[in-house]
Amino acid sequence: MIKPVSGFSKFTKQEKIEWLLTNYLDGDATLEKILKSYWNTNVKLQDLHDEFIENTISNFYLPFAIAPNFLINGQLCTIPMVIEESSVVAAASNAAKFWLHRGGFRAEVISTTKNGQVHFNFFGRKENLNSYFKSIKEKLKQSIAPISKNMEKRGGGLLDIVLIDKTKDLENYYQLHCTFETLDAMGANFINSCLEQFAATLEEEALHYPPFIAEDEKLEVVMSILSNYVPECLVRVEVSCAVSDLTTKEFDGKEFAEKFVRAIAIAKAEPRRAVTHNKGIMNGMDAVVLATGNDFRAVEAGLHAYASKSGIYSSLTHVEIVNDRFKFWMEIPLAIGTIGGLTTLHPLVKVALKILQNPNARELMQVIAVAGLAQNFAALKSLITTGIQQGHMKMHLMNILNQLEATETEKSKAIEYFKENPVTHNSAVIFIENLRK
Ligand code: MEV
Repeated sequence: MIKPVSGFSKFTKQEKIEWLLTNYLDGDATLEKILKSYWNTNVKLQDLHDEFIENTISNFYLPFAIAPNFLINGQLCTIPMVIEESSVVAAASNAAKFWLHRGGFRAEVISTTKNGQVHFNFFGRKENLNSYFKSIKEKLKQSIAPISKNMEKRGGGLLDIVLIDKTKDLENYYQLHCTFETLDAMGANFINSCLEQFAATLEEEALHYPPFIAEDEKLEVVMSILSNYVPECLVRVEVSCAVSDLTTKEFDGKEFAEKFVRAIAIAKAEPRRAVTHNKGIMNGMDAVVLATGNDFRAVEAGLHAYASKSGIYSSLTHVEIVNDRFKFWMEIPLAIGTIGGLTTLHPLVKVALKILQNPNARELMQVIAVAGLAQNFAALKSLITTGIQQGHMKMHLMNILNQLEATETEKSKAIEYFKENPVTHNSAVIFIENLRK
């Protein structure tokens, strides 16, 4: 029987592995070897990674790839992507090349305001709370002076604090809704520090506010945290061309454009399709968000909430054909940074940012959104023409061959054979078995 462990985080790395071996891995030395085979021989680099999180026992590799030929606002760009799904980078490169010859991607940042809330309970008269807030608003702003000094020097900081009455949604619930400009930082630490200071000031000052004392009214803070829903931090990306320019060897432009419009209409009408449709967008976006050391969970959460802003979960991308022009676009919330956090710590993130020519946050927002739009275009292009499996399985073939421990000769024979034949897991197994007979 496995017993709870205490003081585990204080164990050395070796002790943690030994504990794991004894309690979960049946003492299997080959598993210990696998864990250790992913340790970096550069001790300093390994220490750096160990300290990103607690209880590190190994590293978990993901492929770091690049997708070239993205023309964004007239400039060529190679996009770094970190992702495990076989066909994503190929699809991105494919879409980049397709639009390279059709005017490229246009991207623009619409707004950059981030936000956070101090959520609190108030038991008393609303008029008293309103006048209390008015009386301390300046004090609240001043209370974060030491925290926001550097941010203000760079031109950012707090934008505003508004008292919001949420009692219609939840009894006695109010919030300080605070807005911020965090420039090139994602700003989570900055915002949370400001909010916690507001919370402390809000509660402290309330203790001495005469009308609250006179009427025995009480204010208590529940929590203070930034919001990952950032509908005032928006980026827009678009591609467009004459419908006739969509024609390729494989399809007629008009037919393609009309089916594409229908595919988006389906994603708007049917949430089950919209979720997968938007997941395809995230394939591209998450890969760049990860490569550039940003928080993909925050981006995902905010994006999916935005996809539901009408009350029904829907497509994040839009399309129209007007006067024989095909226009495909997306406007999404995106809070990311190019300074602070992992962006300055992870050596590979530094390389990724250098590949992008060290963008500022606004430029990176555009690149990430372009990767999302490109990915959605590539997915829909496959879905409405050949189907997704052809390309996907071609890329997945190498994974199957590796699972079968194919030799280099077997691999090249298989690649040659499957150029002309459909790839399935079974067909690959049979092909290798026949070779080995
Ligand atoms: C697979 O990872 C992503 C797709 O399912 C997206 C889509 O269906 O639009 C291909």
